[in-house]
Amino acid sequence: MAYKDVYAAWQADPEAFWMDAAQAIDWDKLPSKALFDENAPLYEWFSDGMVNTCYNAVDRHVENGRGDQVAIIYDSPITGRQAKITYAELKTRVAALAGTLQEKGVEKGDRVIIYMPMVAEALMAMLAVTRIGAIHSVVFGGFASKELAVRIDDAKPKAIIAASCGIEPGRVVAYKPLLDGAIDIAEHKPDFTIILQREESPADLIEGRDHDWADLEASATPADCVPVEGNHPAYILYTSGTTGQPKGVIRHTGGHLVALNWTMKNIYNVDPGDVFWVASDVGWVVGHSYIAYAPLIHGNTTVVFEGKPVGTPDAGTFWRVISEHKVKSFFTAPTAFRAVKREDPKGEFIKKYDLSCLKQVYLAGERADPDTIVWAQEQLQMPIVDHWWQTETGFAIAANPLGIEELPTKLGSPSVPMPGYDVQILDEGGHELPAGELGAIAIKLPLPPGTLPNLWNAEERFKSSYLNTFPGYYETGDAGYKDEDGYLYIMARTDDVINVAGHRLSTGGMEEVLASHPDVAECAVIGVTDTLKGQLPLGLICLNAGTDRPDDEVAAECVKLVREKIGPVAAFKLCVVVDRLPKTRSGKILRATMVSIADGTDYKMPATIDDPAVLDEIRDALQSLGYSQ
Ligand code: COA
Ligand code: AMP
Repeated sequence: MAYKDVYAAWQADPEAFWMDAAQAIDWDKLPSKALFDENAPLYEWFSDGMVNTCYNAVDRHVENGRGDQVAIIYDSPITGRQAKITYAELKTRVAALAGTLQEKGVEKGDRVIIYMPMVAEALMAMLAVTRIGAIHSVVFGGFASKELAVRIDDAKPKAIIAASCGIEPGRVVAYKPLLDGAIDIAEHKPDFTIILQREESPADLIEGRDHDWADLEASATPADCVPVEGNHPAYILYTSGTTGQPKGVIRHTGGHLVALNWTMKNIYNVDPGDVFWVASDVGWVVGHSYIAYAPLIHGNTTVVFEGKPVGTPDAGTFWRVISEHKVKSFFTAPTAFRAVKREDPKGEFIKKYDLSCLKQVYLAGERADPDTIVWAQEQLQMPIVDHWWQTETGFAIAANPLGIEELPTKLGSPSVPMPGYDVQILDEGGHELPAGELGAIAIKLPLPPGTLPNLWNAEERFKSSYLNTFPGYYETGDAGYKDEDGYLYIMARTDDVINVAGHRLSTGGMEEVLASHPDVAECAVIGVTDTLKGQLPLGLICLNAGTDRPDDEVAAECVKLVREKIGPVAAFKLCVVVDRLPKTRSGKILRATMVSIADGTDYKMPATIDDPAVLDEIRDALQSLGYSQ
């Protein structure tokens, strides 16, 4: 079948389409139907089925003869270690950890936070939690104590599973002090923690609260899989919104299994047994869906890579891993390719490796710039697929579905909507715009299985963030257009979210941190264009009247403060003091105008600007940081 036929089949009968896809999942009790729309505009999928995530990702493969197949390849150029874990071994280890959690009182519906680097045990922790029907919330290791504390207070976990440390190029990041700090700050206290001790920096354990993973695993009674309802949350993943309070995206179990499994062949073009590698981090949605769950649900081998695209040890690492482990489909962020391209523009490293195993490459997390795509096409001579999705959707909204049909690539476009997504470009009044016209990108409700049904403990915020602007639609927060062939072009965010090295960050959250500095009266954080990371945050601060501290000193303190409060992942290193910020007459800060000035792009003088002369001052300040040249 061609893509257009598959899409048309979904459009004609979504219920039949998803019930058919659901057959690839092993249910303890089959759902009576796919869509549950009784509470529209809140929708759920497969609610009355009974199913277990871990059973589908691990146990069933052992039962079906894949026990000796490698499930996880751990490849860590940063420590020089590698490991291969078969499905049978994975089952034993996961069941043991799950048993430990149960023995310590974790039950169905309880939350467990996971704060770990890219080691195979991170996946085991996720699977162990879902095995017993508990709900995990993985927090990215690059977030600092305060961010972790915010998530602890929102998710109220009974337990936290962490590693003693993560390893970044040139430094060991001790996670345990960050975890201890977070538990101190948080109002909610977990009953206990489980710590994976790593030899690079073992942690001190607090008697009675902290437990050594290895000790627990050695003495555990294995736990069986606990079937849960199709609409039982498998996990909560926090993502940046417009404020410092992150949004807890919920993922329901049934739809998650069905949708992810469907994507593995249809989008990523792999069959069970093939090796699939995503160079990202389990702390992000890409890591949840495509390092952990989808490849395992589908019976593939997944690679857990603890390294960077460059510097661990060189720009050939990606190609080494692909050829060594026979990777068939590879997925990373455009920024990672930009980093490789910068060091190896002519692809000298690529020539050193036999990449005949590799059939296709996928990019997501940020807009894939045409230069990067063309470079990859020329170097690798295979399909390079840009695909567009979000934490909220959990899988691609638009892609080139190579497993169905390879559509022509159009540079700058993540291609066409996937089945399940009726994507429309709307004007401010919610009317559909013709091809070629830029507008808000919205998806007609219901969203497909596997997408967010709600936000954790925040139904009103769910509605106001996504559903209220365009009744009957989900508002993506992205702006863009469609061309005459139905290809989508994703151009910008419509909110204060920026994308730094494929990581989604809230400028509002950073502004909250800057505003907490005692000398800062007012501030704005904007996302400026960066050739490597796509965007970088840049802070403009106004000091309190009467402050006699040197500007540079306060700016440097602000940089330090963001690193301490949000974490190194914010990559907040640009900060400058200004006398005043450009505003409208009603007092709204003109952030978009400042972005245009910084990037040197054309802009229209806002008609409502209070005092146009401020823009010259802003230009000077930005020039002092190397922008607006
Ligand atoms: N734990 C602790 N610190 C972390 C961390 C973690 N898990 N991950 C990143 N950091 C730190 C880094 O050490 C760095 O600190 P520094 O300011 O002291 O240098 C900072 O956070 C920013 O990290 P990063 O964004 O990784 O930038 P980088 O300059 O080290 O590397 C790239 C640049 C392009 C190589 C890198 O960003 C990259 O590989 N990006 C791929 C992104 C990706 O996979 N995105 C997921 C969406 S698909
Ligand atoms: P996240 O939730 O962290 O995955 O970030 C999602 C956001 O990243 C989207 O809303 C887009 O703004 C951006 N994004 C992700 N993939 C793409 C892509 N292929 N093209 C353009 N923007 C993208």
